Amino acid sequence: MLPKTYLIYFSPTRTTRKIVEQVAAGLDSQSIEHHDLTRMEQEFTLRLDDGVAVIGVPVYAGRVPEIFLKRIEKLSGEGIPAVLIALYGNRAYEDALVELRDVIIAKGFNVVAAGAFIGEHSYSTDGRPIAANRPDTEDLKYAIVFGVAIANKLQGDCNLATLDIPGNIPYKERVPLGGICPETMPELCTLCKTCARICPAFIITVDQEVTTKAENCVMCCACVKFCPYHARVMRHPMVEARRDMLIKNCSERKEPSCFL
Ligand SMILES: Cc1cc2nc3c(=O)[nH]c(=O)nc-3n(C[C@H](O)[C@H](O)[C@H](O)COP(=O)(O)O)c2cc1C
Repeated sequence: MLPKTYLIYFSPTRTTRKIVEQVAAGLDSQSIEHHDLTRMEQEFTLRLDDGVAVIGVPVYAGRVPEIFLKRIEKLSGEGIPAVLIALYGNRAYEDALVELRDVIIAKGFNVVAAGAFIGEHSYSTDGRPIAANRPDTEDLKYAIVFGVAIANKLQGDCNLATLDIPGNIPYKERVPLGGICPETMPELCTLCKTCARICPAFIITVDQEVTTKAENCVMCCACVKFCPYHARVMRHPMVEARRDMLIKNCSERKEPSCFL
């Protein structure tokens, strides 16, 4: 049995987290330590020299979110095995998994397995669903089985720094974020501050009204999905156009892919 699994993830709408947890369940180690980097109040420093790490991120425009890269600046692996998870919204994961592999190898981990899973798209709404309610039961089962397969592999030789993962180098150009953010519908808002408490970018303040600093928004839509009063909406014309495209071209169910 593996001694310890470290779960390291950024997951504003919690789909990445669900898969990371299921993979860890399949690994079946003696203990699990969570490092949720979604909302970091303090600097994150972690140097791991035993156990296995499961590291998960959502795919943003085919890449690893920049905010995650900043948060793991002081993470180091000292040769321990790492399992990588990229969670995408049923469009494509493009270069995100290759980028994550390269970053995590550069931090000293031994990347032994990687998986691309599907989660409800950040821009999905009840009326305009995109991969709604994923990961579902099938996805979660798949993630556990993947974890079991990794545990078996770790019994043998696991020096696989050259794991063959689809994606391009150089990675696709980053699409700059910022300037677009969800809005609040004052007639529904009770100023409960849920949005301010969960925003991973710390850009929402609630006083007599809700203020959002659009230039630093990562567009994760956590404030939209977790507002208890449905008072936050993402209806910027650029996002509406993106929703149209996703519904038109990416409605067919995709399945997880795993590499080990
Ligand atoms: C800014 C942004 C860019 C995104 N880009 C992609 C993408 O390139 N491909 C894709 O399939 N999904 C994309 N998504 C959807 C997320 O990858 C997906 O919703 C994921 O499940 C969110 O993870 P979380 O629940 O852990 O926050 C994007 C979402 C956001 C907010």
